[in-house]
Parts: sequence; C-alpha cells; structure tokens
Amino acid sequence: MYDVHEIRKDFPVLEKVIYLDNGATTQTPMPAIEAMNDFFCNYAANYGRGAHRLSIEATNAYEDARETVADFLNAPPEKMIMTRNTTEGINIVANGFGFEKGDHVITTLAEHHSNFVPWLRLKEIGVDVSAADICREGMIDPERIERMITDRTKLIAVGHVSNVFGSVQDVRKIVRIARKNGVKVLIDGAQSAGHMPVDLKELDCDYFAAAGHKGLLGPQGTGILYMKDPDTIAPSYLGGGTTAIADACGFVTKDAPDKFEAGTPNLPGVIGLGAAVAYLQKIGVADIEAHETKLARMSAKRLKEIDVIEVYGPEMRAGLVSFSIVGFEPHQIAVLLDKYKKICIRSGYHCAAPGLKRLGINGTARASFALYNTAEEAEIFAGAVEKIAKER
Ligand code: ALA
Repeated sequence: MYDVHEIRKDFPVLEKVIYLDNGATTQTPMPAIEAMNDFFCNYAANYGRGAHRLSIEATNAYEDARETVADFLNAPPEKMIMTRNTTEGINIVANGFGFEKGDHVITTLAEHHSNFVPWLRLKEIGVDVSAADICREGMIDPERIERMITDRTKLIAVGHVSNVFGSVQDVRKIVRIARKNGVKVLIDGAQSAGHMPVDLKELDCDYFAAAGHKGLLGPQGTGILYMKDPDTIAPSYLGGGTTAIADACGFVTKDAPDKFEAGTPNLPGVIGLGAAVAYLQKIGVADIEAHETKLARMSAKRLKEIDVIEVYGPEMRAGLVSFSIVGFEPHQIAVLLDKYKKICIRSGYHCAAPGLKRLGINGTARASFALYNTAEEAEIFAGAVEKIAKER
C-alpha cells in the first residue's frame, strides 16, 4: 500500500481544504502539471501538421500519452480516441452509430444525464429507448436488462459506477448478456476509470467512455473513448486531422483514431493526462481502490449511526457516499461543511435526476474520495456532518 501522506505532497491544494468532490473533478499531481508546463515552455506546436522539430516533438508526446492511457486500460492505442470528456465520448457513439427508426436502445435509471439524454434524444428519429429500473441502493439487475432485449435492440448503455449511489454495476454480466443476444454495449466509465482496475480486453465491451479529469487525475477538457471496432461509428466532426485526401469531388477520411479527432487537439491536456496516468500506474490502481472504498465505507458507517441522516447506496460501495439530513437542503449541507471545516463536497441532483426522482429523493449531499484523502479527513468530515445534524 502506498504512503498517502507522501503522495499528498504532489497535490499542494490539499493543504488548504479537505477536498471530497473527486466525483466531479480530481486534483492533478505535480508531475502532470510539470509535463504541461514543459509543453508550453519547450515545445508548444501543433499535432501532425509540421515537418519541424517542435511539431514532431509535440506529436510524439501526444501519441506517447495516448499509448500510456491505452496501456493502462489494456486497449490498443489506435482504438483509444482522445475526447474532451465522458459526455463527448458518449455523444460520438450516439450520433455516429447510425440508428434508424424502429431500433431499440436500453439505458438505465442509474445513469448520469450524459448516458441518458443522448439516448433519449434518439426518440426524435423514431428509436425506441427504454430505461432499466433501479433498486433503492442504485443497483441494476442484469437479468432485468436481459428481459428488456427485443429483436430490435441495438445497444445497451450502462454506467460502471453510479455517481450518486456509488453502486458498482455488474458490467461483465451485462456484456455477456449483450454478446449472447448480438447487442452492442457502451460502458460509462466516468466514475470507474482510475478508481478501480479496468481491463478493456477482458471486459470486452464495444465502447467505453471516461473522463480525464476524474479518476485518471488529468486536467479538465480531456477524456477518452475506447471503441472495439471504430468502423462501427461514423465520425461526428470532420476537418483538419481527420482527412487523408480531399478535392472538389469528395474526401477520404484517415483511419481511427485520427478520423475521430478533428481540428487541433488538446495537446497540453492530453500530455498532462498521460503523465497523470503514468503517476497512477506507479501507485497501483488496486491499492487506490482499496483505499478509497475503505474511506467511503468508514464514512457511510459513521453517518448511518446518526438517526436523522439517511445514507444512500449499497454497503459494498465504490469510493463515494451520498446522504441527506432531515431538515436540510443538500446545498445547505455543502455550504455548512465548507464554512465549518473547508470541506468541499457536491450537492443536488448530480446531473442524475432520473434515478433520484424515481426513488423520491430530493437531491443528496455527496462526499467522493480519491487516492490522496486520509482517514483523518474522513473523520473530520463525519464529525462535521454530525455537528450539522445536531444543530437542527
Ligand atoms: N459527473 C460529475 C459528478 O458526478 C460532474 O459530479
């Protein structure tokens, strides 16, 4: 197990606050910040567009970063598209899949809006979209999904880990069900990549979208989309970078990944992401998962002991805990935690209203942990929540 106090030195902001909003954005380690600085100071040039040394250096650094991320998730680099965020990755699949009137898509009520609304919109072109129900703990029953499959079902879109409940879905079983029925599967890995081991070869899903700025510790404006067979998706954007040849009569696109990365890419961001993932790799994602889940489960246990607090999600949660306090709006809890102990959490519907509304929950307060949080911070958090609950 790594030394959490040692790695905290790589995240200077942690001296100022207790940062428990990692489900929204994690902090970026100094080696990744230094890699981005190095780009800006020493070789800030465009990707694949110059024969000069700086452009070659920038292109190589970008491709090295892609390889690092692909290796981390055990996927071939040419199937790893660099995006702006999870949402963009999911939209690339929803828009490029070529859905037709009468097709059927299955999503779930545990989803973030990013893995819900792009599918719902397909109704406008006559696609039938259904959402699998959730239980009180935010879990999806894979067999329920299997029962929803019809001979028109083309794709199942499911989140690996719920950003509200911390429930870890049985995505392997869902992929097996999809394979058996000849249906494709997209996994929203926004809350899993970097927080737990993810092996895309073993998982065998068709599409996997994740953010660079959450578990992967990269900067905002970065993300990834893995496609097992990139030829199943038409690119959403075309232009510089995507085109092999063009004349007045037409054009030919390059192969993946280039054909999905139109325009100048986020070179500094992707290079920072690569350095952040290399940092994660050194620490070890299995140890990170053990550390984060321990803190979340410890906090959930403490909060459950207070009778005016309701804690949501399963016992075997990922590294986050959502809760409410009788008599308080979720945002009030967040403001008070900030005021008392400079604790940063998220509150509200977490861009995941369908599941919360289904269960009659009017928003939650959510603490989400990362590799650099300590048991002391979890204790201070639980103590501060207890103080708020007692003040009612
Ligand atoms: N999806 C992010 C969250 O859950 C923003 O906070």
